[in-house]
Amino acid sequence: MSKVADLIRPELAELGVYAPLEGDFPIRLDANEAPALLSAGARARLAAVAAATAWERYPDARAAALREAIATRTGVSPGEVFAGVGSDEVIATLLTVLVRPRGKSPAPTLLTTTPSFVMYRQSGRARGWNVMEVPLDAEWDLAESSMARAIEMTPPNVVFIATPNNPTGNLMSPNRLEHVIQAAAGALVVIDEAYVDYSSGDHLDLYRKYDNVALLRTLSKVGFAALRVGWLVARPELVAELDKVRLPYNLPTTSQTLAATVLRELSAEIDALAATVKAERARLCEALAALPRVTLTPSQANFVWLGTERPAGEVFDALCERKILVRSFHARGGRLGSQLRVTVGTREENDAFLQALREVT
Ligand SMILES: Cc1ncc(COP(=O)(O)O)c(C=O)c1O
Repeated sequence: MSKVADLIRPELAELGVYAPLEGDFPIRLDANEAPALLSAGARARLAAVAAATAWERYPDARAAALREAIATRTGVSPGEVFAGVGSDEVIATLLTVLVRPRGKSPAPTLLTTTPSFVMYRQSGRARGWNVMEVPLDAEWDLAESSMARAIEMTPPNVVFIATPNNPTGNLMSPNRLEHVIQAAAGALVVIDEAYVDYSSGDHLDLYRKYDNVALLRTLSKVGFAALRVGWLVARPELVAELDKVRLPYNLPTTSQTLAATVLRELSAEIDALAATVKAERARLCEALAALPRVTLTPSQANFVWLGTERPAGEVFDALCERKILVRSFHARGGRLGSQLRVTVGTREENDAFLQALREVT
């Protein structure tokens, strides 16, 4: 008789649970959330919408009103929108659908950069995908020829490029990104725009120009992480296939109605929040640039990517002792061993972080 343990997908042995660090941290600058800047009026409006929920009914299985609101805000048609429980569910659904092996590899292949958003690898390995990660160059930009070589050697099914990238915060050079799209003509290239509201532009032009491009977006980074709503902008034929495999009623009614309200009525709040965070980012970066043992990558996101002379693990621990949580990648080693990712917080949080950083670097 087999043991249940013998039945488990072997790839899971190499994965851990995705969970933020627990603990008493009054200042949490580790998850790239937005600061709590929602106005009292907006809160009251969302409370009124939630109060009108038909609790006894299942959610709208098609999330029609939400898709419509997303489409209107993005300038595409509702048929080009696939909505999920955060971008994470969209990524997982793509990796459930686009699995027909290409080339010699018996498993489908996912190509991304390193470092980048960890869920691409996690979600891919959890589904038995072959994951190829090509290091970014010395400026944390796309290494175009290495990407092209990887695509030629092992043709990928999906390519994930986050721009602005997490954790490095910078935009990938547009011409390099376009060359990767051209080189990966047989794959779906997902341009992850989770931080688009903090950056100087979007990639709708590339989506319109290339059939193999899709855009991934989320409400999580602009003040609504609690809703867990993310979406893909893609060709309707792909959206129709994704719809077949998502769980029925995947998006709770409250997430659908509140997210639709945010998109329809509260875009001025999002714009104001993004402007505040960008102004704080500029102030934070100016102060960081003046620190002697710290290097800074120009950020187009709601976080900064810092290099420290002192090992990042030590700086991270010293900040934790001062009750400030940031994100360190020192466990990954190599050049990440001296890097920290720090979310832009409120003015007070940023000042407390700066003060602590001066003491510990
Ligand atoms: C690049 C990138 N994509 C997607 C996500 C996940 O977003 P969501 O909260 O919509 O699942 C994150 C979150 O950190 C991210 O950094």
